[in-house]
Amino acid sequence: MIITKLLEDNLKLQTLSKLQFAKDINIGLSSTPKKLSSKYFYDTRGSQIFQEITKLDEYYLTRAELEILERIKNILPDLVGKNEVDIVELGVGDGHKTKIIINSFLDKKIKVNFFPIDISAEAMHLLEDHISESKNLNIHAVVGEYIEGMNFAREHSKNRQIVLFLGSNIGNFNKTDGENILKKIKSILKKDDFLLIGFDLKKDIEFMTRAYSDHEGITAKFNLNILERINTELRGNFEVENFEHLALYNPELGAMESYLISLKDQIVTISELKKKFKFDAYEPIHLEYSFKFLEKDIQDLSIQGGFKCIGNFKDGNKYFIDSLWQV
Ligand SMILES: C[S@@+](CC[C@H](N)C(=O)[O-])C[C@H]1O[C@@H](n2cnc3c(N)ncnc32)[C@H](O)[C@@H]1O
Repeated sequence: MIITKLLEDNLKLQTLSKLQFAKDINIGLSSTPKKLSSKYFYDTRGSQIFQEITKLDEYYLTRAELEILERIKNILPDLVGKNEVDIVELGVGDGHKTKIIINSFLDKKIKVNFFPIDISAEAMHLLEDHISESKNLNIHAVVGEYIEGMNFAREHSKNRQIVLFLGSNIGNFNKTDGENILKKIKSILKKDDFLLIGFDLKKDIEFMTRAYSDHEGITAKFNLNILERINTELRGNFEVENFEHLALYNPELGAMESYLISLKDQIVTISELKKKFKFDAYEPIHLEYSFKFLEKDIQDLSIQGGFKCIGNFKDGNKYFIDSLWQV
């Protein structure tokens, strides 16, 4: 076991997040229109299904970003120029991208303290399959939300930090929330720390739509799993086959949006909330925004966040950018 789980802190965070889950589901399903946050996709099964998504032909995002990381992996150790570094990753998932970055430091005999942060405890198990043991690598896993995880890492971190925010996770936030989280990230960092952040670029609409609505139905299974999660954790009685996944591009917002559509009039009981929720036929539940970007949006965001943009790195198809920023 290579991961030092800081159990006491993690358990506290997990108890809080269970209460928050119940509260957010109640608020979301009581709203008009109904909505659920995409951060709740990732229970054990959700994190596993996301791994399947990353291997789909249609899901170009992962392949594009892996290509970029392979190309730029040696830039970071040279830029950091120290013999020890603290890598903090927001929403690490299974860590198969991170492995490339961590190994580039280890190969140059630079000691790495890695702080993977993820709202999903399952991500930390998946991580163990991808990050191998090394005497120069310490891992402090944090199961929690981005900012609370960063605060935790700050308390335990003594070296220059590189924060990884990959997978275009920033695209799940609208413009205002995106700017706010970037400002928060910056406020936790110190002078000369780095942020490597992934952005999915605007491109052919059908091509993007296929990535969120694949022909095998894996994305549909992933999105519908949020109802299964409510059934399991909050004793709900959603009949999942009475809902359908829908993904479409909203050109005004510049975002892919995902919905679940109720296929009939129905009433769902969530026992833990002691509440019934009524769904009309064809009523949507909004699940996810995945905002898409132009290169100039990235420049603007770095300035608004208070960072200096060191460089934008694209894949050969120009589908995706990893942008390197410095405080
Ligand atoms: C789209 S996946 C990307 C995983 C990985 N970064 C990649 O690029 O392949 C998003 C990951 O972020 C995590 N996540 C989503 N919202 C989060 C939040 N608010 N705080 C912490 N982790 C979050 C999910 O559990 C999931 O593992």
